[in-house]
Amino acid sequence: MILVLDFGSQYNQLITRRIREFGVYSELHSHKLTAETIKKMNPKGIILSGGPHSVYDENSFRCDKEIFDLGIPILGICYGMQLMALHYGGKVEKALNREYGKAMIDADTDTALFKNAPENQSVWMSHGDKVMEAPASFKVDATSPSTPIAAMSNKEKNLYGVQFHPEVRHTEYGNQLLQQFVNDVCDTTGDWTIENFIELETEKIQQKVGDRKVLCALSGGVDSSVVAALIHKAIGDQLTCIFVDHGLLRKNEADDVMKVFAEDFNMNIIKVDAKDRFLSKLQGVDDPEKKRKIIGNEFIYVFDDEAGKLKDIDFLAQGTLYTDIIESGTETAQTIKSHHNVGGLPEDMQFELIEPLNTLFKDEVRELGTQLGIPDHIVWRQPFPGPGLAIRVLGEVTEEKLEIVRESDAILREEIAAAGLDRDIWQYFTVLPNIKSVGVMGDSRTYDYTIGIRAVTSIDGMTSDWARIPWDVLGKISTRIVNDVQHINRVVYDVTSKPPATIEWE
Ligand code: XMP
Repeated sequence: MILVLDFGSQYNQLITRRIREFGVYSELHSHKLTAETIKKMNPKGIILSGGPHSVYDENSFRCDKEIFDLGIPILGICYGMQLMALHYGGKVEKALNREYGKAMIDADTDTALFKNAPENQSVWMSHGDKVMEAPASFKVDATSPSTPIAAMSNKEKNLYGVQFHPEVRHTEYGNQLLQQFVNDVCDTTGDWTIENFIELETEKIQQKVGDRKVLCALSGGVDSSVVAALIHKAIGDQLTCIFVDHGLLRKNEADDVMKVFAEDFNMNIIKVDAKDRFLSKLQGVDDPEKKRKIIGNEFIYVFDDEAGKLKDIDFLAQGTLYTDIIESGTETAQTIKSHHNVGGLPEDMQFELIEPLNTLFKDEVRELGTQLGIPDHIVWRQPFPGPGLAIRVLGEVTEEKLEIVRESDAILREEIAAAGLDRDIWQYFTVLPNIKSVGVMGDSRTYDYTIGIRAVTSIDGMTSDWARIPWDVLGKISTRIVNDVQHINRVVYDVTSKPPATIEWE
């Protein structure tokens, strides 16, 4: 395992990702880990990440100094290199200006990190302070016109530092540099794969659960589907899933989830048809936050009712991902989640948790799902909010309006898939604003609803841009919706980014 210590750089998750791509397991942890804890974790190497602070800031992040004496190879990146330089008596200069962007370095290719690369290469810089004097026991391995010590090393102690960011794609030989550190300096081989993750994890689940029983809330989303499939592989019928159909799902979604998991996977699934319960609670409610609250609470009540009918359940399985843990677990993380899944469960439930995906990133979860035999339309499913179509019917939710959104959304999804755009667009759906306008169909005047199409590109949903869907595809979608969906006589396309808009309209 390669341990990445988090000093708050926006790139730190990327370092962990890159290392896993080499087939070497890696984890990101707080910079506050003590040397003693790290020793117990027994990593083959440590990477000190970059960070937004100056080492001279009063509250700048520091690490336990004793980690430098553990005899474990260390690579300091940017801020991490500056910490290393200070620790060994080098000089760090406080910057007046930041250096940001591409730079050319001259590197000594007779070194562990720069071998097999050209002497002159381009790298990505993003720093304020810089090391001006390497510690006496270190050698300078690379320089650039503005950064005289772009890389340094102490070969005997296996200590390396780079001022630039090898984890960023713009650093031409960055991947190679990281891989040479991980494989050659830390002496690892690339034997961490999703196949052996499945093998190890099923064994772990079997050992933990023994002959006891596990409960899982299956929503049909990627994470809960993969958790259910993995645990089912490990313990078969000792797993029971509860699937709450709140009547706010997309067209055919509930049947599809049942077909895949109850029929094809042969899992124990209790499907709760709670449509009436949810719709009656939503009657007369038009405030989006109230809708969210009602749906979230009702979900818990329904789940609770069903779980209460089951006997002898000891564990609750959840699809927590590594990013959820990183985001809530380190004070350095910059992003805050704005939404909790409706799958949030009561706090007083007396179950032990099983979270077998909590070391994986989303793309690894998808790969795992594929390896477990889950079909592509679930593994690659676009994000879908817990409150479902209720927040895509603006204002009060009625069965008729849900049907309009459901039908138009199905057409949109069909056409996006037919145009081969379904993996390029992050999220796409239709919304029904509470607007009626005049139209003409055949020879008669109509006065009916407008439907909005929302399609965005994004990395994580925190920011997004509107997707540039080709005009002819949009034209086809519009024609089909107006022809096939009752009560729609006008289609509009939302061309707003987030911010200032949000992805959903409510
Ligand atoms: P917004 O609309 O805030 O959405 O730009 C960002 C992402 O979050 C999803 N979303 C939700 N997910 N419960 C959820 O589980 C919610 O209440 C909720 N509201 C928005 C949205 O679909 C998008 O992917």
